[in-house]
Amino acid sequence: MGLDALLDWLPPDSPEVELARRIREDRLPVHIAIIMDGNGRWAGLRHLPRVEGHRAGIDAVREVVETSARLGIEYLTVYAFSVENWKRPPTEVNTLMTLLKRYLCSELDTLVRHDIRFKVVGRLEELAPDVRAALVEAMEKTAAGHGMQLNIALNYGGRAEIVEAAKRAIVAAIRPDELDERAFSGFLYTAGQPDPDLLIRTSGEMRVSNFLLWQIAYAEIWVTDTLWPDFRRPHLLEAVLDYQRRDRRYGGISRPVAASR
Ligand code: FPP
Repeated sequence: MGLDALLDWLPPDSPEVELARRIREDRLPVHIAIIMDGNGRWAGLRHLPRVEGHRAGIDAVREVVETSARLGIEYLTVYAFSVENWKRPPTEVNTLMTLLKRYLCSELDTLVRHDIRFKVVGRLEELAPDVRAALVEAMEKTAAGHGMQLNIALNYGGRAEIVEAAKRAIVAAIRPDELDERAFSGFLYTAGQPDPDLLIRTSGEMRVSNFLLWQIAYAEIWVTDTLWPDFRRPHLLEAVLDYQRRDRRYGGISRPVAASR
């Protein structure tokens, strides 16, 4: 996997080839996180029920996962269902869970073939047994993958995650002098993973919506007006190219993106 693998795979003479050729392999974001927003509006614009927007969003998930893995992104986290999303009508919640199960069922072989490791970030234990079983099966069957890690944030809330991490630190009886930022990160769902370098949000909304609050402290944010079901490979490549033009300072002085790895 890497830029050459992506270039070999892209249709020759497609606009994506031009975008991909401009990407610097030594300045790739290690971790990309995505707030997939705008499914409901996408459906509304077409006079369709909201769930049709979620259904269409699956194609975007598929394309982004495969493109990221081929490009050589090491971690990809997508926000599929927040702890607040339980407030939606039960039919919408049920459809989202069914779509997730179907995605796992239809994509599991592809994930394994691409050496992708699948992980859930969020409260797995509160999900219905059939959904949990599908998620656990996907995690187990992909556990040996050495390629990209695909995190699906599900029943996830950033504040809830921080509170849970604090409880775990208390249960672990960690001493105050041992508890620093690094040690605390080890109690989060994302323990052992690097923080996102690039946070993408679709549908033009300028907020972080309780997503990875601790982990995005220094993420570069890229917002597009494109609604999630319309998000495709060129959008992802444009986001990466824009990220590569950023000057990441971490509160300090000017530092090129490449040096942040
Ligand atoms: C936000 O759009 C999107 C969601 C709450 C769910 C995202 C889920 C998917 C794309 C499908 C399942 C995911 C996976 C990983 C297989 P919205 O409904 O808030 O849109 P709106 O703001 O336009 O109403």
